[in-house]
Amino acid sequence: MDKLIVHGGSTLAGSINISGSKNASLPILAAALLTDQQVIIERVPDVSDTNYMLQILSALGCEVERYSGTVKITAAKIIPDAPYELVRKMRASICVMGPLVARLGRATVSIPGGCVIGDRPIDLHLKGLSAIGAEIDNQSGNMNIEAPKGLTGCEVDLRGKHGPTVLGTDNLMMAAVLAEGTTIIESAACEPEVVDLADFLNSMGAKIEGAGTRRITIEGVRSLGGTRHTVIPDRIEAGTFMVAGAMASHDGITIHRVRKDHLSPAIEKLEEGGHLVEFFNDGKSVRVTPGEAPQGCNITTTPHPGFPTDMQAQFTAMFATTPGISVVEDTIFPHRFMHCAELVRMGANIKTDHGTAIISGVEQLSAAPVMASDLRASAALVLAALKAKGTTEINRLYHIDRGYEHIDEKLLLLGAKVERAQGSI
Ligand code: EPZ
Repeated sequence: MDKLIVHGGSTLAGSINISGSKNASLPILAAALLTDQQVIIERVPDVSDTNYMLQILSALGCEVERYSGTVKITAAKIIPDAPYELVRKMRASICVMGPLVARLGRATVSIPGGCVIGDRPIDLHLKGLSAIGAEIDNQSGNMNIEAPKGLTGCEVDLRGKHGPTVLGTDNLMMAAVLAEGTTIIESAACEPEVVDLADFLNSMGAKIEGAGTRRITIEGVRSLGGTRHTVIPDRIEAGTFMVAGAMASHDGITIHRVRKDHLSPAIEKLEEGGHLVEFFNDGKSVRVTPGEAPQGCNITTTPHPGFPTDMQAQFTAMFATTPGISVVEDTIFPHRFMHCAELVRMGANIKTDHGTAIISGVEQLSAAPVMASDLRASAALVLAALKAKGTTEINRLYHIDRGYEHIDEKLLLLGAKVERAQGSI
């Protein structure tokens, strides 16, 4: 397995382009199953999660072509059984359920495993699909879903104890587009990635209104056609590099191909922490410069439009060497603090308790061999290593490669001294 060797003390400068959003691409790729016409999707990032999804679509019978960031998919003749070997590798594969039941009237998908950020229940996905007529039977780790009488729209509230569900909203929306009648999703997720999926479906002929609000209305249609769509920029990758600019540059870095309207929580917390955030080029480019007197601040993650859980680890890495006390609370994934133990190994002063991390900024971190554990925790370790004294080896780089396209190349472009090497663990 690869590791990333990061020589600390690099001062970042220059500019990079942000890739297309992994979390928008995954449900949009799955939505290709809803039509027998060809769909063309641009700016799909070359990361292992999207590669897994494409392998699953091929295994389901889709014709898949990929060249650089453009993917062409034709789901002319498909089967309802998603391969266990592939589905178990990536939780987001759960979002083939809705399209398969809508298109074929049935689906067999294995139950996704949990992961280090917490157990990943799918009760809300099943609640949504059964509300519109799907019958679900769990058998030896597989979910067998059937809609013997077809799917019929109705009103469903998808709120769970931790708030709305992103992929649960996506699954129900994708099933409802071909259901009889109208489906109303209450307590829908409002993330930009949900809006991008709705835009994609509407460009195929679906009739969806209200995406981006807590109430989405889907009027079922008989069939969907082909389309061409460009995926939105990855707001979490953009936020990650904005933090890099605030903590590891001297005169700032510039990040292109972003969407200012998707970055409000990161902007607010960087500015509250004393850093300079300047947008230009109609909000598609941003320059982030370290503040003269950075200070810690408090973050509580909440569903969009609140502070995203996918960005708290990166800010924690920044707070580790920011003067003062910062408190980070994750209300969505209360166990998502694997990065803290690794940061403490590098000299950070962090105490975690019941879904909260209390960070007292220290003068400097020092390099140490650390272990990546999940996608965003790994990004946090890279950020910390850029600033630490000495050379840090980050093992199990595959976690980062799941969601950050060519992160080492982007860091090299910014002047970081990093290299990918063969890891031993
Ligand atoms: C999406 O996961 C993202 N993944 C995650 O990003 C992100 O952290 C998460 O949304 C929250 O924003 C993709 O889009 C591929 P949820 P998703 O259903 O949809 C609970 C990354 O780093 N819940 O919105 O699987 C759940 O346990 C990844 O890119 C239920 O209780 O997350 C959590 O506490 C990590 N029952 C909360 O809801 C369910 O049926 C939000 O989860 C489903 C979820």
